[in-house]
Amino acid sequence: MAEKLYHGACFYPELWDEKTIAEDIELMKKTGINVVRIGEFAWSKMEPEEGEIDVSFFKNMITRLYENGIETVLCTPTPTPPIWFSHGHPERMHIDQEGRVMSHGSRQHACTNNAYFREKSALITAELAKEAGRLPGLIAWQLDNEFKCHIAECMCGTCKTLWHDWLRARYGTIEQLNEEWGTHIWSEYYQSFEQIPQPVATPFLHHSSLQTMYRIFSSEKIAEFADEQAEIIRQYSDAPITHNSTLFFSVDNERLFQHLDFASFDTYTPQEKMESYLLNCDVWRGLKKNTPYWVMETSTSYAASLESYANPHANGYLQAEAVAAYALGGQGFCYWLWRQQRSGSEQPHSAVISAWGEPSVGYRNVLQVEEIRKELEPIMLRTKPVQADIAITYSDRARMYHLTEPHNGIHYKDLMTELYNVFVTEGFHRDVLPEGGDLTGYKLLFTPLLPYTSDDYLEKAKAFVEAGGIWIAGPMTGGRTKEHTIHTDRALGKLEQWAGVKTLFTFPMDEKTTAGEAFGKEAPLGLWSAVFEPEGAEAVGTVTKGVTSGKAFLTEYKAGKGKVIMLGSLPRGEEGKELMAQIIRHYASEAGVTVKTDVSPGTIAAPRETEDGQTFWVVVNMDGKGGRVTVPSEGTITFEPYEYKVIEFKKEGVLHES
Ligand code: GAL
Repeated sequence: MAEKLYHGACFYPELWDEKTIAEDIELMKKTGINVVRIGEFAWSKMEPEEGEIDVSFFKNMITRLYENGIETVLCTPTPTPPIWFSHGHPERMHIDQEGRVMSHGSRQHACTNNAYFREKSALITAELAKEAGRLPGLIAWQLDNEFKCHIAECMCGTCKTLWHDWLRARYGTIEQLNEEWGTHIWSEYYQSFEQIPQPVATPFLHHSSLQTMYRIFSSEKIAEFADEQAEIIRQYSDAPITHNSTLFFSVDNERLFQHLDFASFDTYTPQEKMESYLLNCDVWRGLKKNTPYWVMETSTSYAASLESYANPHANGYLQAEAVAAYALGGQGFCYWLWRQQRSGSEQPHSAVISAWGEPSVGYRNVLQVEEIRKELEPIMLRTKPVQADIAITYSDRARMYHLTEPHNGIHYKDLMTELYNVFVTEGFHRDVLPEGGDLTGYKLLFTPLLPYTSDDYLEKAKAFVEAGGIWIAGPMTGGRTKEHTIHTDRALGKLEQWAGVKTLFTFPMDEKTTAGEAFGKEAPLGLWSAVFEPEGAEAVGTVTKGVTSGKAFLTEYKAGKGKVIMLGSLPRGEEGKELMAQIIRHYASEAGVTVKTDVSPGTIAAPRETEDGQTFWVVVNMDGKGGRVTVPSEGTITFEPYEYKVIEFKKEGVLHES
């Protein structure tokens, strides 16, 4: 990939005639599109009849685009196997939890574990890689498209067999599985692996272990498919490989991206949820630290399908998104899609150019993004995002535990976004890391909503604390075992023992009748909670109302040179937000966190630095209300709605003053 910033669009030349394609290329040049993504749904164009593969259209297209100054991200076409694959073959199709067999006509209809699907996918991908893999215009690969976007775990016969193999490999003997899952409950006891059902319809809920393990199994299988495809491509191509994922598909992104080269995500977050957009930038930066991520898809104005549409972005928001994407560590910013679809199920979706070839409603914003790209490029290429002092753990595996056990509707990503937003609003620069993320160099670690805290994670967090870090664990961290059962030694297992507390009860706090106080602030407490009796720790937050009045919900314990903070409950409502912010401010200050600014809410600052330590802040207003930030030695700088500025610090270290 070249040393530049990319500004791109998803392009479907296979759907248009030659005259339109020629017009598109001219328009792309005028607009400043320097990369396109092609091919992800074009299997039937590449292999119209089974076994007759011809990818010359795409090969020629990549070359032609390149001659026009446009580079290509080429996709494997596996989300849409052609009719010759699907027709008359229900056994190759995805089966959902209700037992419904998917049919041809949309996408992701095939089971990605089906042996014949894998065989045909390997062939088409090999051919594509052989033919196009070394073309100068090809800068990257995208595998498939949004794995598990429309579908969750598959319940077909192939998956059933693989599931049994997976369980056998995991537990060794059926006795072991029975013991670890506790299957004597409701007479679920199994006599052999073959008897274990998939989590299909039952009169009431399935066993927690069965559900969570099936999710993990499925996420491993889809990652294995990605690995297999990536290996094929690498035989013929050196271009880096990615996948366009999100935070809500049925995948484990940490595992999925383990053997891929760079991270990409798609987002259609509405403007009112800018924190969700920012969380994405931080998550994907954290997944492949030191390798820039891509925003592979976003809308120029609004997302839509035949059934619904979102509101258009206000003029200016797209530019703010682009600034944030590049400044927080992105190299590519791409739209879905270039030319509005003239057919299919997404005709109403916004695009750069309408189906009749005219600029669309967001077009002027796209032109401004291109101006911004040009302005930012020299600075972005000289600098990298500054490592934050604060790390937040984000885990798709945790999400799976919450999916199995959602209580009264816990939605992991939404709750994480809410907690993450405390840091954004307080002006803290933060890194969001997967469970396996390296904690070197951080000062404060925040681990909310991680029901199963693995031994590896615990050891890493302990080492972090002992070396001087402050670790805030909770709420809802540590209360479940690896097998999604309850600990029988102590409520939060090894975690609480090490944190110098005894958990007295775990139970749902009713925020209407429960409150707690810490650092002089009182707020309602809610969520599935734990209350503690200090055993060497100090109580710093106490329940003031409700059935456990007088017990601790926030404790701190010194270990080595650092501290572990147990947060047993979630402060709720407006006062809760204030209390949460106070807790974070308090421990950030104690941990010596300095990479922060006093940006007003709705405006964000992304710190970057050159190799020799010169610092820049890219500051952008994202809520359209304008904002301000104080810059040491310069005073207050104000921002118009959606305006951005790059603030350069001559003197090394100025940013690091709190
Ligand atoms: C994405 C998908 C695209 C398009 C887009 C519409 O999820 O990858 O193909 O459907 O949504 O917003």
